[in-house]
Amino acid sequence: MNFPAHLKTLGLTFASIFLTATASADPSIVRRIAFGSCADQQKPCPIWGTIADYDPQWLLLLGDNIYADVVDGRLKPSTPERIAAAYQQLGEMPEFNRLRASTNIMATWDDHDYGNNDAGAQWEHKDAAAEIFHNFFGTPADSPLRKQRGIYDARIVGPPGKRVQMIMLDTRYFRSELEKAERPLPGFRARPYLQRTDPQATMLGDQQWKWLEQQLRQPAEIRLLCSSIQVISDEHPFEKWDNFPAERQRLYDLIRDCEASGVIILSGDRHRGEISLDPYSVGYALYDVTASGLNQASRVWRPLEPNRHRVSSLEYGNHFGAIEIDWDRQDPLISLQLRWEDGEIATQARVLLSRLQAKPAPKPLPAGVVSAGRALTLDVGDAAEVQFLVQAGRMFGERMRLLLNSESDYRSKRNFTVVMEATALSGPWGNIDLADLQGKTIRARGTIGVYNGVKQLVIETPEQLQIVP
Ligand SMILES: [Fe+2]
Repeated sequence: MNFPAHLKTLGLTFASIFLTATASADPSIVRRIAFGSCADQQKPCPIWGTIADYDPQWLLLLGDNIYADVVDGRLKPSTPERIAAAYQQLGEMPEFNRLRASTNIMATWDDHDYGNNDAGAQWEHKDAAAEIFHNFFGTPADSPLRKQRGIYDARIVGPPGKRVQMIMLDTRYFRSELEKAERPLPGFRARPYLQRTDPQATMLGDQQWKWLEQQLRQPAEIRLLCSSIQVISDEHPFEKWDNFPAERQRLYDLIRDCEASGVIILSGDRHRGEISLDPYSVGYALYDVTASGLNQASRVWRPLEPNRHRVSSLEYGNHFGAIEIDWDRQDPLISLQLRWEDGEIATQARVLLSRLQAKPAPKPLPAGVVSAGRALTLDVGDAAEVQFLVQAGRMFGERMRLLLNSESDYRSKRNFTVVMEATALSGPWGNIDLADLQGKTIRARGTIGVYNGVKQLVIETPEQLQIVP
């Protein structure tokens, strides 16, 4: 076909506009993700429609996607039949179906879709629940996920330089039993869960830990690490990673050891929204964005739970979470948002991708030697050899005692202290001053003790301490 010259030029211009437009709208580049948790299929859930209108490229469901263990408003361990019936009810909600048809979904579960409140590895219907989960979310019949124990999964979307990794953890299938305290904390009705520090206690189980390490070693610019329960918040009495402090430390250590940049934690479960920030544990700004209450958040203002890491909160109101990524800036900007039921932004934190860059991994410690973070998870009376960089300390009295701290602020929950008693301040340490040890890496061998409820390592002879060159 022969076009007049001016129309050919016009055609070319249209073609180039079209090409430019499609390049910037490359569907493989992830710019908008929605996430959330806690949706009771027995109640209206208009927020499914709001999320569909928000038009995310991905929807990450963080658990309690149905409530299978609620009968007449009361908790009751579920059965495979009731779990399947609850999913069926969700699958019959028109707004959920509109959303499902318009976006890609990745999901994990929490206790109520697992089938039993706060349940872990002991839950008798866990394999049946997994099969029903896979059926509902359309896992292909021949997928290896169907043969795997537990429902964890991950994928990376986007071209090099703009890759988003989505990691769904399973914090139920392998999780050791929880232990409850005898009495509630002041101001709470529920008895708090205690910290389990015994070495067998696990959150993810061996297989999933190995798999997670493989995932964190894959190249990606942003990693959305989805955990049904909160990772960073560690003061409220309910379910959280800190009920297994060594497991949480293992997660932080793994992120450091893999030099995994760009990790952002997404969590649910708490029936409230909040954004927590831990600037230290992985060597860069680690956020935990809790979006919990697709239709299960409180309608009225609720007092805040204790959380020293909170930077932002929603004290009431159903909501969903959103991640928006502006890749077009030289330093991509990531918005971590909580949005109301009407789609408006309720609160957000914004962080530049350059703030989420891993530092070179610390050199591995010799066998038998532990970090300050790991030492804090040991039991009182345990023998331990601990190594850390001395950031601060204090000399007491006439050389009665020297304290060596792993953190610059001794009140930090992360701080671990080595206490040199007067008897240790002799021999090679006879004239030592705190200033001589500050900024040096020390290795100390001793016994875990406790002072004012905080664990420390006490050493009594000069041979128990050395400076690591
Ligand atoms: Fe939950």
